[in-house]
Amino acid sequence: MHKIYDYPKSRAAFERALKLIPSGIYGHQGPAEGCYVPVEAFPLYSSKAQGSYLWDLDGNRFIDYMCAYGPNILGYHDPDVDEAAARQRAISDCTTLPNPIMIDFADLLVDTVASADWAFFAKNGNDVTTLAIMTARAYTHRKKIVFFKGYYHGVSPWTQKIDYAGVIEEDVMHNLYVEWNNLEQLREVFDTHKGEIAAVIAQPYMHGNFMDNELPAEGFWKEVRKLCTDEGTVLVVDDVRAGFRLDLAGSDHFFGFKADLICFCKALANGYNVSALCGQEFLKNTVSSMSYTGSYWMSAVPFAAGIACIEKMKRIDCPRLLDEKGRLLREGLTDAAREQGFDLHVTGAPSLFYLRVADDPSLRLHQEWVAECVKRGVFFTNHHNHFINASLSDEDIRETVEIAREAFAVLRERHPL
Ligand SMILES: Cc1ncc(COP(=O)(O)O)c(C=O)c1O
Repeated sequence: MHKIYDYPKSRAAFERALKLIPSGIYGHQGPAEGCYVPVEAFPLYSSKAQGSYLWDLDGNRFIDYMCAYGPNILGYHDPDVDEAAARQRAISDCTTLPNPIMIDFADLLVDTVASADWAFFAKNGNDVTTLAIMTARAYTHRKKIVFFKGYYHGVSPWTQKIDYAGVIEEDVMHNLYVEWNNLEQLREVFDTHKGEIAAVIAQPYMHGNFMDNELPAEGFWKEVRKLCTDEGTVLVVDDVRAGFRLDLAGSDHFFGFKADLICFCKALANGYNVSALCGQEFLKNTVSSMSYTGSYWMSAVPFAAGIACIEKMKRIDCPRLLDEKGRLLREGLTDAAREQGFDLHVTGAPSLFYLRVADDPSLRLHQEWVAECVKRGVFFTNHHNHFINASLSDEDIRETVEIAREAFAVLRERHPL
């Protein structure tokens, strides 16, 4: 039996934060957004991280399946990435003129990503999804953008919904929404708005929250690509979350098509702060013509980290490794569920798996199971996909499955058949 964690120091820190920071911890890393339900089961602050582990303020160790919500792909504090970053930090980081390591990083990305003829760097995923939309509008001289329901492309007003605080009608009045994998709806939208659609923006597969994740149906991407080409619409792939976990050449390459613009962030530099918009040659001049930059966007340390990260991902064939680990974990977790008569649905790519205890539309059973896992040292969250990192060992997977089994047993005792 595993020790049951509690979190007095996390709670005390959160009480302090509430007085000083709006909502204490904002966004999905805070307790307000639904990933951490019931909130008592979760720590709220970490004290350190290494490899596949995270420690909270109370000294509890977790096998971390959120990976900082994606950036941790090689393992926290990967020695090769940290060493490259430290070497660059000793030379220069944020300076008046950029360091040419920026060109080396662009060169490596163009060499690595199949649809990339150039690379533009920023800091967050939202910076580059926004640049992609502005680029599409500038190039096409059109206003409308097609989204797939369940999307997440960041926090700029154009990504939000009309009923969200601070959003005005004009921010979202040119947004059009269709269902994932629904080509009929997409064709209808193109027919209704002929000559008006600047861009289709999509994640490479549907990894939305609060829903089983859904891979593209056979032929889906080929047809989306064709529609965009025929209609002169820019096809934007938002690879901020899935990037490098499916295919180092880009998730569009993985699914057999070519994006016009592709957005990267999270796994690009193993936690160092950089994002990139890559794209095809015909859009390069448009991006050049735009007014778009930021105080830290040319900092050199994250470029050094990014180069080391991509080179290492290539060396270890990272996507294959993550896929294998993800499959092993999926098998262990579904077996553990079955032993106690539960049906655990594991959807999406094995390296970015989404979990749901089925046959309970209230989702409470699922939340209870996740809570019992977290309190024993496996950091899952509710209603969001999870992430595998390359440092996750077979022993970590074995321990995870053992804890999952114990958590299912607790659930079964509480909810007898
Ligand atoms: C698919 C996707 N797009 C865009 C973003 C926004 O990235 P950021 O939070 O770095 O601005 C995220 C972040 O989770 C994401 O998952």
